[in-house]
Order: sequence, then C-alpha cells, then structure tokens
Amino acid sequence: MSALPSSLAPAARRPIRELPDELISQIAAGEVVERPASVVRELLDNALDAGARQVTVRLSAGGVRLISVEDDGQGLPRDELPLALRRHATSKIASLNDLETVGTMGFRGEALAAINAIAELSLQSRFHAADSAFALDGRTGELRPVARAAGTTVEVRELFFATPARRKFLKTDATELAHCIEAVRRHALARPDVGFSVWHEGRLVEQWRAADARDRRLADTLGEGFVAQSVAVEHAAGPVRVAGRAGIPDAARSRADQQFFYVNGRFVRDKVLAHAVRSAYEDVLHGQRQPVYALYLEIDPARVDVNVHPTKIEVRFRDGREVHQAVRHAIENALAAPRAGEAAAVAAEPFFKPLSPQPEPSWTQPAIHFAAERGLGDAAAMWPSERSDSAATPATAFTLPAAPVKPTPATDDDQAWPLGRALAQLQGIYILAENSQGLVIVDMHAAHERIVYERLKTQLDGAAIASQPLLIPATFAATPQEVATAEACAAVLPSLGLEITPFSPRTLAVRAVPGTLADGDPVELARSVLAELAHHDASTVVQRAQNELLSTMACHGAVRANRRLTIDEMNGLLRQMEATERSDQCNHGRPTWRQVSIRELDSLFMRGR
Ligand SMILES: Nc1ncnc2c1ncn2[C@@H]1O[C@H](COP(=O)(O)OP(=O)(O)O)[C@@H](O)[C@H]1O
Ligand SMILES: [Mg+2]
Repeated sequence: MSALPSSLAPAARRPIRELPDELISQIAAGEVVERPASVVRELLDNALDAGARQVTVRLSAGGVRLISVEDDGQGLPRDELPLALRRHATSKIASLNDLETVGTMGFRGEALAAINAIAELSLQSRFHAADSAFALDGRTGELRPVARAAGTTVEVRELFFATPARRKFLKTDATELAHCIEAVRRHALARPDVGFSVWHEGRLVEQWRAADARDRRLADTLGEGFVAQSVAVEHAAGPVRVAGRAGIPDAARSRADQQFFYVNGRFVRDKVLAHAVRSAYEDVLHGQRQPVYALYLEIDPARVDVNVHPTKIEVRFRDGREVHQAVRHAIENALAAPRAGEAAAVAAEPFFKPLSPQPEPSWTQPAIHFAAERGLGDAAAMWPSERSDSAATPATAFTLPAAPVKPTPATDDDQAWPLGRALAQLQGIYILAENSQGLVIVDMHAAHERIVYERLKTQLDGAAIASQPLLIPATFAATPQEVATAEACAAVLPSLGLEITPFSPRTLAVRAVPGTLADGDPVELARSVLAELAHHDASTVVQRAQNELLSTMACHGAVRANRRLTIDEMNGLLRQMEATERSDQCNHGRPTWRQVSIRELDSLFMRGR
C-alpha cells in the first residue's frame, strides 16, 4: 500500500470539546449573513413582524460600515432586550405546532444573535405599552435609558469585523448598496401598506410611501412600465390562491432581474414555482427571454414548510403538483386574452428609435385586456366553424374569412375593432390597418399561424381534429422511414385529422387533412408531421408532443407570405386575431402585431413640436 497523500492523512487528533458559544454563533452566522443585504433582510423581517407602518433604513459604505433599521412597531419590553440577542430565543413560536402554522417572517430566533456575533450591534427600543425607552449594547450587555418614540432601532456597525475572511468576499460598496436596496424592494413589494425609505451616506436613495393598492406599490418600485406591460393575475384553485401581475411576452428581458414570487408574503426562490412560471410562458416566449412578474401565492401555512433553509428563501410544498398547476393556470389564463385595443391607456415609449438602439424592447403592445364586453366576446360566432365551413365550401374551407358575416353594429369601426380596419398589404408580408390610436402593422403569416394553432389545440382538446377528405388523394414518393412511420402511427393520425396510407411500398397517399388546413399543401403537411412523429413513441406522442406537432401543422396551414389578400380577407384576419387567445405572439413567441401611434408618426415628421 502506498502512503496516503498528505492532505488525506489524519491530522494529529484533538479531544472532543464543545465549541465556545461565540464560535458557535459565528459559524451559525455564516448561514444567515452572507453580505450586508442579508442583515437588511433580517432586520426588515423583524420590523414587519413587530407591526411597523414605517421603516427607515440607513446605510453607510454599502452597509458594511453601518446598517440601521428603524421601525415604529410594537417594540420590546426592557427585560426582553438581552433575550433578543440570545441564540434560539424568539417571541414568535413556542411549540412545534406553532412552527407548522407560522405566520411571521421570523421564528428561528437566530438572526440578532448571528449578527451580534459578527458585527457591533446595538438595540434601542420602546415597548408600545411603556413610557420609557432603553438601549442595549450587544458587546458589553450594558442597558441604559434613552429617549425615543415607540418602536425599535437596530444598528449594526462594521459587519464582519470579527470574520475578516468573509469581509474579503464583499464586492464594491455600490454593489452591496444595490443588494441592500433590492432587499428593501422585495419587502416593499410584499407589504404595500408599509412605508419604506432608504438612506445612504445621509442621502435619501429610495422612498416608497405606504400605498392602499398593490399595483400602486408595483408601479412605485418597479416603474409604471411594469404595470403597463403586465396583466393582472387572479386565480384560485382549491387551497391555493395566486394573484399579482405577469409581464406580457413583449416585456420579457434578457436577465431574470424582475421576477418576484411571494408565498404567504415571503419572498422565495423555488424550483417548483419557477418551473410553473416558465411552462406558462413556454407557448408565448421566445428563446431565452426572461419574463417579468410579481406574483403572490397564498396557501394554508400547514401546506408549506418554510423551515427548509436558514434564510427561508426556499420552501417545500406538501403538494407540489397542486401548486405547480395553480400557478401555471393562473398565468396562462391571464396571458391568454388578446390585448389589442386599449393602447391609449398605455404611455408607450416611442416605436421608432432609429438612433438609439435599446437593450430592452422599447416599443410596446398595448398591455391591456381586449374586453369581451365590447361586443366582440362572441366574435368566434361570426365565423362559421371548421366543419360547417368545409361542408359548405370545401374549396375555401380554411381560407381567410372575408369581412364579418354578421355586420358589426358599431358605426365607429375603430372603437369596435381593436386592431382596426385594414388599409393595405405591404410587400406581401404585412397588413397595414388603421385604428383609433393610429397605425397597426400585422405580420400576417405569424398572426395566422397562431390563429390556426389555437384552433387546432381547441379541437384536439375536444377529441380529435376535424378532418376533411381530399377529393383526390395526394400521393407522393415516400422514404422507407416515412412509410414505416405512417404505418406505426396509423392509429394516431386520425386524431390529428390526418389520413395517410401506403399506396405502394414506396408511395404514400394523403386521403384526408384537417379541415382547418385544407388550403395548404397536403404533401408538405404529411411529410413534416411524419418527420415529427418519427421522433416520438407513437402511443404517447399526441399527449407529449401535442403542441409541437400542432405548431408544425399550423405553420403549414398558415397563409404564406406573398399571397395577395383582399381587403375583406385582411379584415377577416384582424377580426380573428381579436377573438383568438394568445394572438399577440406567434407560436414561436414573436410578436404578431405592433401599434404605431399617431403621436409617434407625428414625431417622425416633427409635427406639432
Ligand atoms: N424590530 C423589532 N421589534 C420588536 N421586537 C423585535 C424586533 N427585532 C427583534 N425583536 C424581538 O427579538 C426576537 C429575536 O429576533 P430574531 O433574532 O430576528 O429572531 P426571530 O425573528 O426568528 O424571532 C424576536 O422574536 C422579537 O421578539
Ligand atoms: Mg428575525
């Protein structure tokens, strides 16, 4: 046997000893306090638990030199001040039962002790029912009377002075300050009813006044644009309630820096929740773009374990599936409504910014619900369904419908039609339309693709996609792979509205296609569906790969570029968009239309300036 490398050789052994108290606290502090922002987070939790209405945070050197958090909460009685700094001492739970239903931010009784072990801490408090205030010096334990109003101030100086290794990991003051502000913002988003202010080196850097509505606080902390470019989420499913706002796909960013999720008022980062959000955006978001959102999940505390991590940023749900579904549906439903038509309410940034390219999209789609009460809720009824359509006029089964069958009652079309009235087609690619805000530009293929896709999805949800037999089967020379797939998937194809059968060992015949796609090239459609099916196990493909399949089919069925449309057909497409869920994005997450306001057009021509 060769000798162990020296690093693995047993060190000279010391006898087992209990660690000194101070060292235990310093070790524990490492788990709770990573940087100044962690201290800010813990002190804010305490202030909110104490019922504060107004919280003031004062910082120096990014929080490394000083963090002071002052609140007007219920305060601490004199005798309890020393206890507050003891490890595992808390007023928030007394039993395991309390822990299981805990409603406060804190409960572990370790934050102040941890901070006291790695910084100079002092605590000043006046209990709400007392008429005098006291200050406690964390180092010496000295208690002395002071004068102050009801509430508590915790001052933390020289963070990590006793653990220089940690101090070396800190970034610049500016970075630490940014993290501290972010910690306050997270709390502010959870509690719009509480006022917050942040000072750095004696200067006010953020101030959020107590607000009576969550949207007000969202606008104050994340900007008016966040609210304008997001939709309200409100969904209840069993014991789970999800509320808040979800950004429209257009507002997605390259970084995940505007994603806030709260569980019972606590900011969390959780895999189940993150995945649920991601999957809700899957159908409408392009590539790696990061959606923005502020979502608030309320659930019976007994159904979620918050005691997973010392910083409580992770949680564990008793029923992860239930939560995942609720979140996913909440967002999907909120995003599904087409948003055309209420642009006026949105202070959109200019559409054209040719000279200053922006990192994030500067144009906007109007981020407000297309309202069903405008009389277009039953717009679908204006269009004959696939079935009757194909029965009546097989040749134009899927063609873009011309103008509405039912004349629109409104005298002012612009008001009634959010996407306006078609004017012309540009380069065989875009439809130009006019609405009350100005010019609407529609990518006709992208828009139609979404419409066809949503229709196919709805049909497949029902049972099977309505199929239309071809008068003359379309035959094509197939590869052995294609023939094999067609045979293996013979049972699956009809549910997709397709009938593809071998005609000879090297030839396949397409005998029926989905009515919705009757206008497209049946051979091209058959080939791409077979190619997709070849990747999957035939028995499960319709459940598992349903959306990709339908998306492929929709792409074939959608109107092609360079196809001349009549004005009636263009209007037909616009009306369909208004009535189709998720029609603001194509199946690949790209926008299908843009609004250019009159104001933007005016500024292009320097009119009225
Ligand atoms: N700002 C405050 N106002 C009133 N009481 C406070 C405040 N901060 C801390 N306390 C008291 O000190 C105790 C210990 O605080 P902490 O160490 O953060 O543990 P925890 O919050 O988990 O109870 C709290 O349980 C609370 O009773
Ligand atoms: Mg605490």
